[in-house]
Amino acid sequence: MGKRKRVAVLTTGGDCSGLNSTLFSLIRACEVRNWELVGIMNGTDGFITGENIPLNRETFPYSAINMAGSFIGSVVYKDVCARKEMTWDGSKTTPVYFKLKEGIAKIKADCVVMIGGNGSVSWLHSAPELFAGMQTVYIPKTIDMDVPMTKNTVGFNTAVNQLSLYIDGIAQSARSHRRWFVVKAMGRNSGHLALRGGMAAGADAIILPEIDVQLRDLVSFVKGTGRSFGIIVVAEGSDLKVEEIAAALEGAGFQGRACNADYFQRGGISVASDRLLAAEFATAALDALDRGETMVMVRRDETSEITTVGIDELYDAGITTNDPNVSNMTVTYDVVSEDDPFLKAARGLGVFLG
Ligand code: F6P
Repeated sequence: MGKRKRVAVLTTGGDCSGLNSTLFSLIRACEVRNWELVGIMNGTDGFITGENIPLNRETFPYSAINMAGSFIGSVVYKDVCARKEMTWDGSKTTPVYFKLKEGIAKIKADCVVMIGGNGSVSWLHSAPELFAGMQTVYIPKTIDMDVPMTKNTVGFNTAVNQLSLYIDGIAQSARSHRRWFVVKAMGRNSGHLALRGGMAAGADAIILPEIDVQLRDLVSFVKGTGRSFGIIVVAEGSDLKVEEIAAALEGAGFQGRACNADYFQRGGISVASDRLLAAEFATAALDALDRGETMVMVRRDETSEITTVGIDELYDAGITTNDPNVSNMTVTYDVVSEDDPFLKAARGLGVFLG
């Protein structure tokens, strides 16, 4: 048997359902290998505060495996900086950078498993030296499903379920009051969540950042349905906003109501497919560490196999834009492609796509 590894795990960025399932799977996979698992509290903030806990069957409540949120907490960088009254502009000369470097070294881990979104990828990509002497493996989680080079991310399936449940909850009111509900979905610059959630809930129209649309064409579509009620789902990254769509519908003689599914999409009992993905990703992450890999992401690849890919390769594969949370840093992301099977299905069902 090789050396007993000490593995540090953290959850970073916006939370989602499935993080606890992933932690639970990591606990079990570490147990099998007789590796030590340490949970860094509150994402990257825990490196600065030095707060961490042993993660094992005694400390982790079994009842948490299907719960949303993260048992060890999560943060986005802008919140870390705000709490510490420090700024981080992405440069390597600021107090935050040095405190992180010092804190990470103090953990004395052999390996770091980062469960994060695309902000975490850009961080690993831009500052790998923070983890000098440690192996790093990244498990993608996000309700946006916008991480390049993976066909799934932990939390996405539950978020789709949550969005469809939200729409189910208002659809009867739309019908009984004869209203068009215009529902804002999360997803940042990507329309995956709006597309899948909208389709699952039987939306009439789905507006995505990936497709150009004119407001007048959407209003004409609504008129053409001959119905006084219905559902329009709008991804948050789209040019058209829910309030302006609702107002335009009012102007055209309909009752239009703007709604926001909001943080409800990040909650909810983790659906089984997310828990299973968590199990696959956790096992694959530890296998990658066993093989000596570092700076890699576990992923479901284009053939649906669970494999690893280098952080630099996946960073280069995405579209880069300014990080909304850290000035002077860029993030890489993925969008709905023209050959997405759900676009095809939506067109087949007569869903208006914009
Ligand atoms: O990336 C996940 C996400 O929920 C996005 O869909 C949304 O735009 C953003 O995070 C909201 O972030 P915050 O928690 O900072 O409001």
